[in-house]
Amino acid sequence: MSIQLPRGTQDILPEDAAIWQYIEQVAKETCETYHYQEIRTPIFEHTEIFSRGVGDTTDIVQKEMYTFSDRGGRSLTLRPEGTAAVVRSYVNHKLYASPAQPTKLYYTGPMFRYERPQAGRMRQFVQFGVEALGSASPQLDAEVLALLIAICKKLGLVNLKLVINSLGDSESRQAHREALIAHFKPSIDEFCSDCQMRLEKNPLRILDCKKDREHPLMATAPSILDYLNEESRAYFQSLKETLDLLNIPYVVDPTLVRGLDYYNHTAFELLSTAPGFGAITTLCGGGRYNGLVQEFGGPETPGIGFAFSIERFILAMKAENVDLPAPQSLDAYLVTLGDESSRLGPQLLQRLRDGGIRADKDYLGKKMKAQLKAADRYQASYTIIIGEDEIAKQQALVKQMATGEQTVVAFSDLTSFLQEQIRGGN
Ligand code: HAM
Repeated sequence: MSIQLPRGTQDILPEDAAIWQYIEQVAKETCETYHYQEIRTPIFEHTEIFSRGVGDTTDIVQKEMYTFSDRGGRSLTLRPEGTAAVVRSYVNHKLYASPAQPTKLYYTGPMFRYERPQAGRMRQFVQFGVEALGSASPQLDAEVLALLIAICKKLGLVNLKLVINSLGDSESRQAHREALIAHFKPSIDEFCSDCQMRLEKNPLRILDCKKDREHPLMATAPSILDYLNEESRAYFQSLKETLDLLNIPYVVDPTLVRGLDYYNHTAFELLSTAPGFGAITTLCGGGRYNGLVQEFGGPETPGIGFAFSIERFILAMKAENVDLPAPQSLDAYLVTLGDESSRLGPQLLQRLRDGGIRADKDYLGKKMKAQLKAADRYQASYTIIIGEDEIAKQQALVKQMATGEQTVVAFSDLTSFLQEQIRGGN
């Protein structure tokens, strides 16, 4: 039996869980400030949600999905991303019919992609994402970006580069598509087999090819920005103006196409420029996907969102030497001496915990010295010592570990005394 972890997965041990909880908490709180609400969708979906949603010429769908048949013969896929699933749910539950529009959602959870693992690239990773559906205002694009930057700032990430592009509306994309085909067709034999297949199906994908990145025709490929029609150009202009008003710095990169097919108009990536961040610098990706709701049988509804992985945010925070939160320490450790004290231990401990005091005791029958050592190891702020004498008098000896100060406190006052000491009586 192999007890090794599958490649590209990891355990998050208690000493690391604090930072995960912290990032998720900061992201959730910031989302709520921006009036986004949580949505939770299943870990697996019918395969076609992703093959149609993400696009069947993408690497994700062609090479990276964990797809399996269940016992009923259905093809199911562990979600490689959140957007298609959220849009599926939005259509299923007719959220578009709610008068409260746009529908602003956030989500977090594990995603699965069969990729070659390296630092920041896992086969199971946790994304935090947002999706805002039901408004085609470029101000909403700016809001989504402002929300992303706010989360980063709160987490102490400062070495950031926001790259934006416009992929235009369908008319602009069609014009660009024809220009790309004309550009690549004469030399398509020099490209990989994937690109040859992409030429007619989805030539934009060629620009995203990892194998043919250095081919000279890549650098001279027609830029989407030259093919934007008036409406798309005005949309992009308005987004840029709003970002300027919000003091959000960005650079426009017309070669940014993203690895998923559902995008139109705004596409963006947030990169880390922190020295030592490593080879993979993309922290977050997102964009607008105005046709996706319709693709899933809903009414024509615009949408925009982003997702980042907690794994990459942790790498960036470490590269930027951000102070990471330590695991929570104990408020109090109960030390018992003698049989009667040991017998009453659980009851005293329960009272403390009921009062919101983070408290623990020994369960290994240790002697006093070893119990005191344990209190130290857990960095308990207070040690509560109860011996035969204390039991007789119904009181405990409470020692503040930082100062060594000792106070005798009646059992009945123990919880309120500690509450007062630790949380100023709250
Ligand atoms: P994506 O660019 O495929 O977009 O992924 C978004 C982010 O997920 C990446 O920037 C990265 O932080 C993280 N990520 C992706 N793959 C891995 C991996 N193998 N290991 C660790 N982290 C990874 C999407 O998924 C879109 N659904 C984003 C979106 C939301 N667009 C609109 N709404």
